[in-house]
Order: sequence, then structure tokens, then C-alpha cells
Amino acid sequence: MKQLTNNILLFLVILQGLTSCSAIKNTSNKNWSAVIRPGTIWRDNNENPIQAHGGGIIKIKNTWYWFGEYRGKDVQPGYRYVGCYSSKDLAHWTFLNKMKFSAPDGFSQEWILERPKVYFNKKTEKYVMYFHLDDNHYKRAEIGIAVSDCVDKGYHFVKHFRPFGMESRDIGQFIDDDGTAYLIFENRPTNGFVIARLSDNYMTLNKVCLVHKSLEGGAIVHYKGLYYVIGSHLTSWKPNPNVYATANSLEGPWTTFENIAAPNMNTYGSQSSNLLKVQGTKSKTVIFIGDIWKPSTQWDSRYLWMPLKMSNRKMYLPKPQPWKINIKTGKVKLIKKDSLDV
Ligand code: DGJ
Repeated sequence: MKQLTNNILLFLVILQGLTSCSAIKNTSNKNWSAVIRPGTIWRDNNENPIQAHGGGIIKIKNTWYWFGEYRGKDVQPGYRYVGCYSSKDLAHWTFLNKMKFSAPDGFSQEWILERPKVYFNKKTEKYVMYFHLDDNHYKRAEIGIAVSDCVDKGYHFVKHFRPFGMESRDIGQFIDDDGTAYLIFENRPTNGFVIARLSDNYMTLNKVCLVHKSLEGGAIVHYKGLYYVIGSHLTSWKPNPNVYATANSLEGPWTTFENIAAPNMNTYGSQSSNLLKVQGTKSKTVIFIGDIWKPSTQWDSRYLWMPLKMSNRKMYLPKPQPWKINIKTGKVKLIKKDSLDV
């Protein structure tokens, strides 16, 4: 009998140990995202590959929204689609919608809508989508704007134009720490990136700076008092060594451009699209968001998301490996043992 009581007591002690242990584990894991595996197929909540290429990400309250080119096999000819997903941890993405657009007047069925970026205007409470609008020969080189009252549906075209009369191709989105919204666009005739500030209602642009360098896939981040601009060389869908420059102010002067990784790595097969800053309680993490394009099977294009190493006014893209982020503290853990099947 005594032996039985001892065994029961021992069992209860072990059980308590196990449950308290898992409780501790749950608490410490609470804010850690799932593992992000750069270059692999990234599936949404429906198990479909995420379709948000050349995308942009905004945070509203505690939710991130990811918009991008929806290039799934289910698209219909003549229409262009913008995928919209939401996430609380940057790893699990819930599919919200694929927003369907038909060609604006004056454009053929072969029109192009690329690199959509959505801004939320707190004053007007409107969602304002900017995108690269073009014909299939990339001769029109315009910006299109569509507006909605909802984040994931109801966008209607408002206008399209060449900003300041200038050709505009790839666009990138930047929202500064004070909430001011900017757009960066590629202007080929000047071999430059134009940085422009959005007006109060986000419907017009004000020129801030021309950065003289023939680049596309532009993105900007403001990190510890310094602005970083990143871009890729003009090699169509093929990867190349992406480069960055820095400045104390968006007006410049900008430093000369440097490689973000060893040039022979070709940005690990990707092209810059975004620099996403996660401001945690302990760290600020800047995530390089790149597209791994597959031009002949666009629906299978992938993403390379990787935390950048930033110090001494330098930015460095490490070799991709799985990682996760604590969305509360902003800290990142690299998962060394996991394998990467890019
Ligand atoms: C490179 C751009 O970055 C892409 O968005 C796309 O426009 C391709 N060129 C088209 O060749």
C-alpha cells in the first residue's frame, strides 16, 4: 500500500513538472513567429502558395497586410490581380482576397500592373493603392492609383499619370517613423531613382530627391537615424548583386552604392522589393524582402525574406537560412539545423 502511495505521489510530481514545464515553454514561445524559410514555397492559411510578388507591407494596429502581384494559375486573361494577406506574426498569412482589375481605358488586354503598394490614409480613412501601370512593351511607364474604403476589396481606379512628367517603372513604398508616406520610382532617362513625398490625401506627389544610379526594385528604410536606399541593377527578371546607399536625410546627399552581399551570390537569386522594419521592445530588425522570380512559371515565383545585419552605417544580407522573429521584442533567431531547400 505504501509503495502504491509513493508511486502515485511520484507520478503526480512528474505530471506537475511536465505541465509547469510546458506552461513555461508556452509563455516563452508566445511571441515567437513560426519559422520563415527563405526561398521555399510559402503557403497561406488555405495551403495555397502566397501570391504577393513585388509586394508591399503595411502595419495597421497589430496586423500586417501584405499586398503584391497575384500571379496564380487561376487568373483570367486580360485582368490583373492584387493579392492581399494578413498576419499577426509575419510568418502565418491569411488569404483575404485577390483583387481583380481590368485594363484602364487606352490600354490593351496585355496591360501590366506591377509592384502594387497600399497606403492607409488616417485623415481620409481611405486605402490608396499605387502601382506600376504599363503596356506590354513597358513604354507607357506610368503610375496608377486606385482607392478603397476597405483594405482588401472595393478598389477603383482614380487616375494614372507620369509623375512630374517623368517615366516611372518599378515603385517602392516607404513610411517614415513620423508617418509621412513616400514613394520611390525608377526613372530610366535620368538613370535615377526618384524619391517623392505623398500629399496629405495621398493623391499627388512632391519631389524630394533624385538619386543618381541606374537601379530598379527600389526600397527605403530609416534605421537608427540613417536612411538606407536599396535597389537592383537593370537585368529584367534575372537576379544581380543588389546595392544600397545611405543618407542622413531623404534629400541626400547619398553615399556611393555598395553591395549588400558578396556580388557572386547575386542577392541569393532574389531582387529587392521592400525593407521592413520591425520595431520591438528590445531590438529593431530590418527584413530584406526580395522576389525570387521565375519568369516562365510566374505562379511559382518565391520570396526571400531575411533579417539584415546593420551596423556602422552598413547593411549586409547574410546567407539565407530559416529564422523566426519575436514580434514583441523584435529579436530574431536563426535556425541553423534546419535545411533550406531553395
Ligand atoms: C524588373 C522589374 O523589377 C520587375 O518588376 C519587372 O518589371 C521586370 N523587370 C520585367 O522585365
